[in-house]
Amino acid sequence: MKVISLYNIKGGVGKTTFAVNIAYETARTGLRTLLWDLDPQGSSSYILRIKPHIKGELSQVVSGKNSLGKSIKETQWPLLDIVPSDFDLRHLSSLLEDEKRQSSKLSKSMKAFGHEYDLVIVDSPPEASTVSENVVNFSDLIVVPVIPNPLSINTFETLLRFAGEIADKKKTRLFAAFNLVDRRKQLHKQMLETYLNKDPRFLKHYVPASSAIEHMTSNRAPLATYSSRSSSTTSFSDLTEEILALMR
Ligand SMILES: Nc1ncnc2c1ncn2[C@@H]1O[C@H](COP(=O)(O)OP(=O)(O)OP(=O)(O)O)[C@@H](O)[C@H]1O
Ligand SMILES: [Mg+2]
Repeated sequence: MKVISLYNIKGGVGKTTFAVNIAYETARTGLRTLLWDLDPQGSSSYILRIKPHIKGELSQVVSGKNSLGKSIKETQWPLLDIVPSDFDLRHLSSLLEDEKRQSSKLSKSMKAFGHEYDLVIVDSPPEASTVSENVVNFSDLIVVPVIPNPLSINTFETLLRFAGEIADKKKTRLFAAFNLVDRRKQLHKQMLETYLNKDPRFLKHYVPASSAIEHMTSNRAPLATYSSRSSSTTSFSDLTEEILALMR
């Protein structure tokens, strides 16, 4: 089992969009995939048409007495399952803070429910919290969706330092991936020229701004299921291939 997380302290940059489409893509290529919706907003659960509900007490999930495995649901797409969100996840950081080894506690619970999967894809909340520290610690690779502008890149640099400070055992690998790219904008063109194929911390494939992607939230489905021929669908399959190659 390998873990890929979508993470950024910034909100609305595409974490959920990436998590759902990358998970759909890995499942499509035959990998048993589990999407873990760790965000109390429950956007991934909503798009994948799953009720946001964790069985039993969240405090017992943290203490190890309640496995999240009981809450896993099949989605309507083959090989793609989900650990749904729950609004109680808003308390997860404070529950973790009451525990010993608070920054690696979730890694243990994931091992208990994730072993039947080839890949766990984590959609994380927009914060730098104890939950985020756990995400950094249990991930084999973190993808940070970044909108092409200097402030977003500045935030990415901050996240690299944050991850460097808290990663306990292994060196966590963080990569930025541009999202909401509009090549008609001078600034976007300039940012792509500066970073793509030049800075190894940036993935080579990026995702354009597209109305087809926007419709994921009204269609409640991964992009490729209703827009298989669009260039944005191709961008997600290329991006997923690039990410999987980095995991080998
Ligand atoms: N490439 C894109 N083109 C068009 N719309 C996009 C694109 N990426 C994301 N969006 C839209 O932007 C909004 C925010 O995206 P998303 O929910 O994936 O961000 P997020 O980082 O998960 O947000 P949050 O921090 O609230 O969890 C959504 O309405 C989504 O459909
Ligand atoms: Mg989200």
